[in-house]
Amino acid sequence: MANKTARNIGPVILLGPPGAGKGTQSKQIVERYGVPQISTGDLLRDHVGRGTELGLEARVIMARGELVPDELMYGIVATRLREADCQGGFVLDGFPRTAAQAGWLDAFLEKEIFEKSKKCPPVVIQMLVDYTQLLLRLTGRRSCPTCGRLYNIHSQSPLADELCDVDGSKLVIRDDDREEVISGRLAAYETQTRRVADYYRAQKRLVAINAERLMEEVTAQIFGVIDRHCLGWTPVAGRRS
Ligand code: AP5
Repeated sequence: MANKTARNIGPVILLGPPGAGKGTQSKQIVERYGVPQISTGDLLRDHVGRGTELGLEARVIMARGELVPDELMYGIVATRLREADCQGGFVLDGFPRTAAQAGWLDAFLEKEIFEKSKKCPPVVIQMLVDYTQLLLRLTGRRSCPTCGRLYNIHSQSPLADELCDVDGSKLVIRDDDREEVISGRLAAYETQTRRVADYYRAQKRLVAINAERLMEEVTAQIFGVIDRHCLGWTPVAGRRS
């Protein structure tokens, strides 16, 4: 699906509830545009796995399906976005998740990214999926601990039962994909993350897509949004043309 095209696409923000397909589609964006995926869930799981101070604190919160406090998130996101590979753009998967995080991100990008060089401004893509479909996607998700490839026992099963098609590793279920944790994650989305969509909608920066369709169709919609967004922007003026 993803034909590689080298272009500075600036920041792409994927917004959507747990199971909307942010991770799945981030990988397609990485493949096509050559920008890194910044998944705050993955960054946190890495800290948890290494047993850092942040990881120990985050582990308990994530196990309840709640959001990690904003102040803890800012440090890890800022550190990652300052890395050299983010210069040509990046895709944010799972951040911002509160209105405060959205405000923080705007200020960070303005100060650290746009002030230094003219870049395509962020595009915010809201992925809409029905609640019942989200539950199916989350309870059916499996992932490869070696290469990170995602599967779903309902819609995208591996060729051999519970084994990765790429490297044969035994697939794993994420700790927070247990039903009792999923309800907490969806509740956190409703009470805190929906406001992020309101924040960007008020700024007329939100583009909503139907993410309930087949994966390839969702990918096509997202590429269309990114291509139109960046084509309509001229670095000379630093504004949309
Ligand atoms: P995080 O890791 O970000 O999880 P999430 O937002 O809950 O999202 P998921 O990774 O579960 O879903 P996804 O949208 O990526 O869907 P996927 O592509 O995998 O966060 C985990 C925790 O970390 C949070 O609960 C919180 O505690 C903490 N955290 C993270 N960021 C934070 C922040 N900014 N602030 C505070 N706390 C933070 O797809 C799901 C399944 O569906 C897969 O099996 C896939 O194969 C399948 N699928 C995908 N697309 C389709 C399709 N079109 N049709 C059919 N199946 C599909």
